[in-house]
Amino acid sequence: MNIRTTSIVAALVLGSVAIVAGEEITYSGHIAPLVAAKCSACHGAEAAPEYHAFKKEKDKWLAKGQGMRMDSYSHLIFYTAWPDTGALMRRLDDGKNGKDGKPGNMYRHLGSSEEERQKNLALFKGWVGSWSLKRWNEISREELDGIKVRY
Ligand code: HEC
Repeated sequence: MNIRTTSIVAALVLGSVAIVAGEEITYSGHIAPLVAAKCSACHGAEAAPEYHAFKKEKDKWLAKGQGMRMDSYSHLIFYTAWPDTGALMRRLDDGKNGKDGKPGNMYRHLGSSEEERQKNLALFKGWVGSWSLKRWNEISREELDGIKVRY
């Protein structure tokens, strides 16, 4: 093999490794089925209201055991970059990177074992991209830019 062929072979090998390692996590492929299985009992279309309607009558919805609606792509991304910046990340985080080490209060819904919760958290992290717990007034332009949430 001459140098040129060698570098083409190397590029092909490296290229294919990068594609496998960086498998794209998408809403339609990974997150929608996960939300349907783990979140829709309380955040589904039938019973859960829009975010602002929930906030307006919070006690009523809490008494019914319902959260706000998150069962579509448009509803779910509301809780990532804007306007409810970082809400999904704060609630699902396992606490390992936070100040007090406490997981977010939705973390437990990610699975029935720690192994399952970690696996599903990794999917959410891969989907969101830049996993920042910050709010709108704290987040940087670079961190916002890192939020991918592919459909
Ligand atoms: C057993 C019911 C239940 C399940 C299951 C559940 N949630 Fe929740 N969730 C709630 C309720 C009720 C609230 C509102 C009270 C609160 O803020 O904790 C809430 C609040 C939230 C919020 C905060 C929104 C905001 O900014 O006010 C997020 C984000 C969230 N849930 C995400 C999820 C995700 C993702 C899942 C699935 C992995 C999930 N939840 C599973 C009941 C549930």
